[in-house]
Amino acid sequence: MQFPKIGILGGGQLGKMLVLDGARLDLPLYILDQEISFPAGRVNRLFMEGDFTEYGDVLAFGREMDIITIEIEKVNIDALFELESMGKIVHPNPRALEIIRDKGKQKQFFVNQGLPTSSFSLVENLQEWEAAAARDNRPYPVVQKLRSGGYDGRGVSILHSPEAIKSKWLSGPSVMEELVDIHKEIAVIAARNAQGQVLTYEPVEMVFDPEANLVDMLFCPAAISEQHKKEAADIAAKLIKSLDICGLLAVEFFIDATGTLLINEVAPRPHNSGHHTIESCATSQFQQHLRGILNWPLGDVTNLHPAAMVNLLGEPGYQGPVYYQGIEKVLEIPQAYIHLYGKEETKPSRKMGHITVLGNSAQEAIGKAKSIQERIKVISIT
Ligand SMILES: Nc1ncnc2c1ncn2[C@@H]1O[C@H](COP(=O)(O)OP(=O)(O)OP(=O)(O)O)[C@@H](O)[C@H]1O
Ligand SMILES: [Mg+2]
Repeated sequence: MQFPKIGILGGGQLGKMLVLDGARLDLPLYILDQEISFPAGRVNRLFMEGDFTEYGDVLAFGREMDIITIEIEKVNIDALFELESMGKIVHPNPRALEIIRDKGKQKQFFVNQGLPTSSFSLVENLQEWEAAAARDNRPYPVVQKLRSGGYDGRGVSILHSPEAIKSKWLSGPSVMEELVDIHKEIAVIAARNAQGQVLTYEPVEMVFDPEANLVDMLFCPAAISEQHKKEAADIAAKLIKSLDICGLLAVEFFIDATGTLLINEVAPRPHNSGHHTIESCATSQFQQHLRGILNWPLGDVTNLHPAAMVNLLGEPGYQGPVYYQGIEKVLEIPQAYIHLYGKEETKPSRKMGHITVLGNSAQEAIGKAKSIQERIKVISIT
């Protein structure tokens, strides 16, 4: 079989894990990113150095491909539209990407689809928010999110009072969301191919580090009701269809204190909340994304083992060449799978790797994951 050439925009850890999975089938996967020393470049010779935010670079790269996909949303969309009009297959489609990479358009899309999400308004700047807040007596705290460019919690600010707002305001057009009284955060990954086949993975539960404002640990299966599981899977399936996405769509949800399920946000690509699938599911999310964009039959999404996953984040206070302190102690733990992304420099809260651990129950896996977190630290020793 002659496989189509697949171009991936982005050479970070998600790109690396896509090429590692694709290599088993010897798929021709090409990467576009700035430096071959980035995570995906370390394992893939088919690497073009260039800027995925630049029209010319994306076009020149995409012209040589049959299928173009992404591992990051912040790519040049005009070039993707152009490539599509040239007859190239682009997944996710650029119309969906345009909606998703703007958190304001995302929220409006959920509302237009009649799907549950927290209430919000859109503002261009601080002055506009202050005027609206005074006029309509808007409640505090309020969650400010930059409409574009934020990631790993960096574009999110919780503003507790009109006084705090000046020091914590992030500059740029924003979504102003009601602060949800979060009981749990869960995520569901949906997969789809062009024939219209849709499958959803078992929901995972995410535990947040409030300081870093990103996921500390997640586990699967989530400790939630069957009703919540079904509702979340139905919403994820509905979203991937209505956005006409092939490949993956990860959907993050809140369950609030009253038990209401609310969509937080979506991502049209492999996702941090699906890393455990490499070891714990019949088909990994990376394999599934490739099947989806190739219009191949989707793989079995059965969860074979309870699992927990911890992100290896750069320890606060350290910046420089990375050193994984205590890694030998993690290697002693049965069924712990260490993934290091190959980023040369650590920075506070930077995602440097992850570890998935399997157990006979989610509780056992969580216990092992906690012990892993105590054993390993990502630091710099220079
Ligand atoms: N409306 C809200 N109410 C309460 N907490 C919120 C709200 N929105 C976001 N948060 C908290 O902030 C976290 C990060 O928000 P969000 O997922 O929108 O940002 P992000 O930068 O895209 O994050 P990531 O890249 O890690 O997914 C959420 O997971 C949640 O813990
Ligand atoms: Mg998020």
